[in-house]
Amino acid sequence: MKTYKVGYLIGSIAKESINRKLANALFKLAPPQLQFEEISFRDLPIYSYDHDADYPEAGRKFKQAIESSDAILIVTPEYNRSVPGGLKNAIDWASRPWGTNSFDKIPSAVIGTSPGAIGTAVGQQHMRSILGFLNSPQMNSPEAYIQFKDGMINDAGEIADPSTAEFLGKYLKAFHEHIAHVLSKPADS
Ligand code: FNR
Repeated sequence: MKTYKVGYLIGSIAKESINRKLANALFKLAPPQLQFEEISFRDLPIYSYDHDADYPEAGRKFKQAIESSDAILIVTPEYNRSVPGGLKNAIDWASRPWGTNSFDKIPSAVIGTSPGAIGTAVGQQHMRSILGFLNSPQMNSPEAYIQFKDGMINDAGEIADPSTAEFLGKYLKAFHEHIAHVLSKPADS
């Protein structure tokens, strides 16, 4: 069985993050070929190009974690109709110094949840735009804008509603297929 290491970023660093809860519930529904490892960005300072000449260890480790992943999953809330600043800061670190963009050619997918009916749709669209610029081949479809409701995740950390669980299972199956498709296409030599 060919397995893929999927680095995942939780857009929120809140202790009770509903996006972290969603991520943990997702992993229980994922195909066994996908192995998930968190890539944390909470220790990164705010990026500026003043760091480029001597990248700090936190920045180097973060870039290395992205580059050593077969694929990246971003599970993010929407803050003020975009992605949280901490997540954007982390992505800026990974994209630099110029010419060393860590997301280049790494397949990705975006998902998120919010209590509002919009289910992070606008924030995810911003995230997709950023990944496009960074040349990460992202899964375009299916999209997953999840409205978080009380009881959506049960005490065992599982998606309680069978139809939501089925939808998310299909989302993850499609992500597995997307990763396999992207990584099976080497350039002609
Ligand atoms: C929010 N929230 C929010 N929700 C949304 O659907 N659209 C939005 O634009 C915003 N904007 C926003 C800005 C800021 C600064 C905060 C703190 C919150 C609400 C948000 O969806 C809610 O707090 C979720 O619980 C965030 O997800 P995590 O952090 O729990 O994973």
